[in-house]
Amino acid sequence: MSTKEETAPADVEKPQTSSWKDSIYNPRTGEFIGRTAKSWALILLFYLVFYGFLAGMFTLTMWVMLQTLDDNIPTYRDRVASPGLVIRPLSLDIVFNRTDPLKYSQYVQHLDHFLQQYNDTVQEKNDLCMVGEYTEQDDVEEKKVCQFKRSILRQCSGLSDTSFGYRDGQPCVLLKMNRIIGLKPRGDPYINCTAKGRESPLLMNYFPAEGRFDKMYFPYYGKNLHPTYVQPLVAVKLLLNKEDYNNEVTVECKIEGSDLRNSDDRDKFLGRVTFRVNVME
Ligand SMILES: *[C@@H]1O[C@H](CO)[C@@H](O)[C@H](O)[C@H]1NC(C)=O
Ligand SMILES: *[C@@H]1O[C@H](CO)[C@@H](O)[C@H](O)[C@H]1NC(C)=O
Ligand SMILES: *[C@@H]1O[C@H](CO)[C@@H](O)[C@H](O)[C@H]1NC(C)=O
Repeated sequence: MSTKEETAPADVEKPQTSSWKDSIYNPRTGEFIGRTAKSWALILLFYLVFYGFLAGMFTLTMWVMLQTLDDNIPTYRDRVASPGLVIRPLSLDIVFNRTDPLKYSQYVQHLDHFLQQYNDTVQEKNDLCMVGEYTEQDDVEEKKVCQFKRSILRQCSGLSDTSFGYRDGQPCVLLKMNRIIGLKPRGDPYINCTAKGRESPLLMNYFPAEGRFDKMYFPYYGKNLHPTYVQPLVAVKLLLNKEDYNNEVTVECKIEGSDLRNSDDRDKFLGRVTFRVNVME
């Protein structure tokens, strides 16, 4: 292909040497690249109008679409909104040597960092809400935020026990539901964790008591209307003992007691989470 193209200009150059100059500007007809000034002007005008029209169409459709959107509520949502369950520390494989602080410091630091926004001093600025009632405030301009103080998490608050139990080989894990705007779980959602593949059930402590998520923290109104909102947390302290050390323990936690889904085959984080813990010594 390339050789043919290279030889082609040499063949045409011989008979008419000046014709290529004419094809750019022809002084006899006043044509510039084969068109007169008037013809060029018309073409330019055509494209100007054409692209102007396209830009106009685009702006119009965009504007019409934006009119249908609400800044505070997503337009497209799941058929039945149900939140995912996530844990802190942000790892589904919690492995550490309890006698070596360097091995668990990343978990402890992560938990402490995460709980900063739940500091009692920070949360005291928020409102005390009615326990067991949704905090509905659709008509209120400034949405209030219900207090969730980290001290509620007691041994898992990082206040009395600054290692969150990692030093003693009885680590705490924090659970929270992902935020969903407008979600109002029916019933009384609580966390139930079970260790798999054990003969006797693994003992655990839940904070707040019974691992409940209070209704007062719902509904959430979205980032714009509810900027300082904090999700309620449930802390689980795994009371591992000597026999559990140096073994992998698989723990599954689920949201129960409400209409929130927790057994979707396709989504294993919907209302539940499974993680592994291996405490060495
Ligand atoms: C939270 O409290 C701890 C001490 O309890 C303090 O060191 C930290 O700076 C506080 N964080 C915020 C964001 O107020
Ligand atoms: C937690 O789940 C286990 C296993 O699914 C079940 O046997 C137990 O009754 C549940 N506990 C509560 C308080 O719902
Ligand atoms: C855990 O750390 C201790 C002390 O640093 C060490 O003696 C022990 O072998 C470690 N255990 C494992 C399983 O690495």
